[in-house]
Amino acid sequence: MAKIKTIGLLTSGGDAPGMNAAIRAVTRSAIFSGFKVKGIYRGYRGLVTDEIVDFKTQNVSNIIHHGGTVLKTARCKEFATVEGRQQAYENMRKHEIDALVVIGGDGSLTGAREFAAEYDVPVVGLPGTIDNDLYGTDHTIGYDTALNTVMWCVDRIRDTASSHERLFFIEVMGRDAGFLALNGAIASGAEAAIIPEISTEVDQLAELIKNGFRKSKNSSIVLVAESPITGGAMGLAERVRKEYPQYDVRVTILGHLQRGGSPTACDRILASRMGAAAIDALLEGQRNVMIGDSNEEIVYVPFSKAVHKNKPIDPELVETLRRLSI
Ligand code: F6P
Repeated sequence: MAKIKTIGLLTSGGDAPGMNAAIRAVTRSAIFSGFKVKGIYRGYRGLVTDEIVDFKTQNVSNIIHHGGTVLKTARCKEFATVEGRQQAYENMRKHEIDALVVIGGDGSLTGAREFAAEYDVPVVGLPGTIDNDLYGTDHTIGYDTALNTVMWCVDRIRDTASSHERLFFIEVMGRDAGFLALNGAIASGAEAAIIPEISTEVDQLAELIKNGFRKSKNSSIVLVAESPITGGAMGLAERVRKEYPQYDVRVTILGHLQRGGSPTACDRILASRMGAAAIDALLEGQRNVMIGDSNEEIVYVPFSKAVHKNKPIDPELVETLRRLSI
């Protein structure tokens, strides 16, 4: 394998708090180890359209505490085409980029995998997504911050829910994965989480809520993961309203506010460790792997596993929520 001298770095897909900390860690670790770094703007789009600049240690000063990504991000259709990837490869050659570090979620790492296979380019991925849905890593960069944001929001909704004795359905992000909804529900003391991984019938849900109201509570909060499988908070609320008109139902969709904000300490530390590990991986001759964390240890996960296997929901968490919601 040719010696790596210059590393290209990009963020792709939905932004996630902690991406800047990861950009900083990759850049500084790379320079520390004697590599040059090129920052690629707007994800794969910048690779196709040649938005590539030198990145020095100063480029990543004072960014560790900011949400979003200083490299900007995009979902790029051109990169899904053979011609787009060809153009991307030509721009890599033009800038003498020998390896890529890609920070992003499922779709971004799928793109990285295809590109690496087609052009024999060493690529290392960092899991950057609030969804926590990548197999092989306990946590993704941005998930802890988003989870804390969900908790913060639900705490506030609880005040009004309880004052008006209402039933609230709160929709959280997750792109067909229930991690934010389930752990958000546990952290905020919600009555239930409706997640795509586990089917919940409306009458089961109503029973749970009824029990809650009857025993001790005058209000109820249910977190719903966005997904056609759950029907989303709107869909679910509509069904409950029709069948159980006695409840005063309200819906809140938390939406993109879950993606912003200053990253938590956990996300900053995770991003810093993973960014440094990406450079170690390249030094060790690894390619086409995602950096993961498993039981606090850094691990290398082949792209094929990270993007193609479904990360399971921990049944113990489901049971904990069920027990605590009585
Ligand atoms: O993958 C991150 C995520 O925030 C998902 O939870 C959500 O489904 C999606 O991105 C929203 O994408 P966009 O910002 O393009 O609307």
